[in-house]
Amino acid sequence: MDPQVLRKDFPIFEAHPELVFLDSAASSQKPRAVLEALTRFYATRYANVHRGGYALSEAATEAYEDARKTLARFLGARDPREVVFVRNATEGVNLLAHALGGRVDPGDTILVTEMEHHANLVPWQQLAAHTGAQLKAVPVTEEGRLDLEAFDRLLAEGPKIVAFSHMSNVLGTVNPVAELAKKARAAGAVVVVDGAQAAPHLPLNVAELGADFYVTSGHKMLGPTGASALWGRLELWQELPPFLTGGGMIEEVTLEESRFAEPPARFEAGTPPFAEAVALAEAARYLENAGREAVFAHDQALVRRALAKLKEVPGLKLLGPEGPDRGGVVSFYFPGLHAHDLATFLAERGIAVRSGHHCAQPLHRKLGAPATTRASFYLYNTEDDVDRLAEALIEARRFFDAWIA
Ligand SMILES: Cc1ncc(COP(=O)(O)O)c(C=O)c1O
Repeated sequence: MDPQVLRKDFPIFEAHPELVFLDSAASSQKPRAVLEALTRFYATRYANVHRGGYALSEAATEAYEDARKTLARFLGARDPREVVFVRNATEGVNLLAHALGGRVDPGDTILVTEMEHHANLVPWQQLAAHTGAQLKAVPVTEEGRLDLEAFDRLLAEGPKIVAFSHMSNVLGTVNPVAELAKKARAAGAVVVVDGAQAAPHLPLNVAELGADFYVTSGHKMLGPTGASALWGRLELWQELPPFLTGGGMIEEVTLEESRFAEPPARFEAGTPPFAEAVALAEAARYLENAGREAVFAHDQALVRRALAKLKEVPGLKLLGPEGPDRGGVVSFYFPGLHAHDLATFLAERGIAVRSGHHCAQPLHRKLGAPATTRASFYLYNTEDDVDRLAEALIEARRFFDAWIA
């Protein structure tokens, strides 16, 4: 996998040749194949799905259902009916928190972790508040890993739902999902994995991972905004009530009541993001062709290089573990200097990074960092991008000397 060759597939780098784009964890850039799939679909095949009896609508329906099959293959699902299209990862978790709500009683426990993105925390907080359940969190160690002994202790309390991320968007930690899922299911919990950061970067096989639900974010994996695949075990989907209700998700409606459709339709009320799903399938194929093992190896090589270089910057604090369980994200800060000031300094040198709490306030609080600046890597980033970041940080160290504690 050669990032210099792949970069040519991404028109954004033609439009901005000097751009050092290190913010793919927020949202990735899109290859031409995905952009063309989207415009081609709108231009030549567009009609609403699952409704029309004419050829164009039937072809659009077929394209949408083919996209579901592609995403099922990409995720390692046994059956395409296990894939529900939602807008984004946030909607995926909200759908699950709503649909699983009937299984939670007052006094029950819902278990999350301290490293969760707010998308995999706030919906569970809300569910706990509405049901009278308690929300508990597995602590994060100083190195930025989950405390596995605490996880075992908390599991012994018999949580109804265990929800955790596959890869942290702040620390880059890749959690041992298969081990955690196996233990949590053995303890009787429904296991929800937030794969928003992992699905774009790691080879995946949800059937083997052993969770019950796996949440992804299409716009972070080269796809357009507005369509993401949410995987769940078919037998669970079949038992669960819908989240949103209305057209497209029913079997039969009278004025008094409704009978709901089988999954996945039960969870896709209204007109789904079918054009975006077709383009997302193109993104999945692009990643398969690039080689998902190769993409992760590339991310890891860049993050190793970044950690080695950034450690040399005097006073710069780095978050996250080192080792094979580290994905392509690095968050850092200079004590005393605001993360936004550092991000602005980098932006002035053509380096696009994110700054703030990255929707993980409890984690930042725990680690004693009010806010951080984050660089994240993907298949189109090069060693030169890492080197430019490191050089700019050395320059920032000198420039902000009076502020840095
Ligand atoms: C770990 C994690 N979960 C969930 C989300 C939310 O993703 P989306 O924008 O698709 O709702 C993000 C986005 O940054 C994330 O990093």
